[in-house]
Amino acid sequence: MSAKEFNLEDIPGVGPATAERLIEAGYETVGKIAQATPQELYDSAEIGEMSARKIITWCSTKVQEIKQGAQETDASKEDSSAKMKDQEEKEGKEADTLQMNGVARTEEFETVDEERVELIETNDEAYVDIGSHLVVGGSGIPSEDEETAVPQKRYDIEDIPGVGPATADKLREAGYLTIESIATAPPAVLSEAAELGETSAKKIIKWCREQADIGTFKTGTDVFAQRLLVKKLSTRVPEIDTLLGGGFETQAISEMYGEFGSGKSQIVHQLAVNVQLPVEMGGLGGSAIYIDTENTFRPERIEQMVHGLEIEGADPQDFLKNIHVARAQSSDHQMLLVENSRELAEELKKAGKPFKLLIVDSLTGLFRSEYAGRGTLAERQQKLNRHMHDIFKLCDEYNAIGLVTNQVQSNPAVFFGDPTKPVGGNIVGHTATFRVYLRKSKAGKRVFRLVDSPNLPEGEALFLVEEGGLRPC
Ligand SMILES: Nc1ncnc2c1ncn2[C@@H]1O[C@H](COP(=O)(O)OP(=O)(O)OP(=O)(O)O)[C@@H](O)[C@H]1O
Ligand SMILES: [Mg+2]
Repeated sequence: MSAKEFNLEDIPGVGPATAERLIEAGYETVGKIAQATPQELYDSAEIGEMSARKIITWCSTKVQEIKQGAQETDASKEDSSAKMKDQEEKEGKEADTLQMNGVARTEEFETVDEERVELIETNDEAYVDIGSHLVVGGSGIPSEDEETAVPQKRYDIEDIPGVGPATADKLREAGYLTIESIATAPPAVLSEAAELGETSAKKIIKWCREQADIGTFKTGTDVFAQRLLVKKLSTRVPEIDTLLGGGFETQAISEMYGEFGSGKSQIVHQLAVNVQLPVEMGGLGGSAIYIDTENTFRPERIEQMVHGLEIEGADPQDFLKNIHVARAQSSDHQMLLVENSRELAEELKKAGKPFKLLIVDSLTGLFRSEYAGRGTLAERQQKLNRHMHDIFKLCDEYNAIGLVTNQVQSNPAVFFGDPTKPVGGNIVGHTATFRVYLRKSKAGKRVFRLVDSPNLPEGEALFLVEEGGLRPC
């Protein structure tokens, strides 16, 4: 097998879930794993010591084989590198693309064949609102050790043809840190952000789409493989978890709506705690980003909930450290915070505490107060729509959960049943994958009603909010 064809799942004993944990822990190449110790793999990717040893031995052997192979073919590589150089000069491309002359980069670049470049040039139009299924974890983290790292299909911004260091800096400054984020950017926005011509921006976007494998049709098998990466976060209320098919899902937005005091903020606080727990305890071993629009985040509640877990030695400070809270001042600021979250998500990934939960509490509060009159409704809905898509893209890209809360507004047209409906109506409802309606019931009980889900039946579960957090009835 050649180095190019390597994939973490090719390692015996590494399935999709382990592969993802390894990538999240920064072991995205066979080369990096070969250099790890069993203890490190155990600590960062929860791989048992025996398995870790086997995996490391296998990777070291492969790296050796590849190195030997590389020495043998070195001469031919230099040849093709020179050919590529000629081609680039002929096309008058920016000189900085020629910097990709390391062994690993050259191999990666070779996969971007001339045919593909031509395709980029001939297909400038047709920008449609493409949605889901980004390559998970495909952040293009540069390899620390280009020599031993086995090339993966994973790119840095500088790897994009036509993007040199200066353009890369501008893109990063504008918040485009990964090829996935560029792949889904509108050409006009990208062109302004990076001071590029619109045609160049389109070419860049097209290339990133090809690499990020988005905007094209996939087979059911591919979609199924992507679904296998979905993780579930437990609420620690068994009845609710069952209703949700195991817990709140990654790669999706869940919307919780209900009247004041129905428990929306209590649930998001609880999940900001739970997400940090290890997988065996229903968590995702990750961190949370919390966008607070109503000043209702309470660190004291987190503290109480950590005590409520009744885990010996659990320190609330350790949990608070992994909740990144930002207070949104206006709806525009709220939207900007989501855009900026990508940068934080990258840092968290590198720090080994991957971002796994994005909370927006409340999603609609600021929009509702800023766009009060009927005349401004269309503009509000348009912005909300964009905001929801930004949230979705971020959560899809990082295999994280989007959890947003929503208020209800009185609906005078309804005289029977519950005279309430969520703000934002269809826009929010259609973009959220799961919708949950919360209401207070008798004797302090609360009702968690799953109203809409693509694959689960509707149903209700009861829960309590106590000092220690959410509890079953
Ligand atoms: N320490 C606590 N112990 C027990 N119950 C609590 C505690 N803190 C809050 N609660 C319960 O949670 C309720 C508040 O719920 P929450 O803040 O989740 O409402 P909400 O749905 O977010 O409302 P809003 O729309 O106003 O934001 C309180 O009325 C109380 O019943
Ligand atoms: Mg609240």
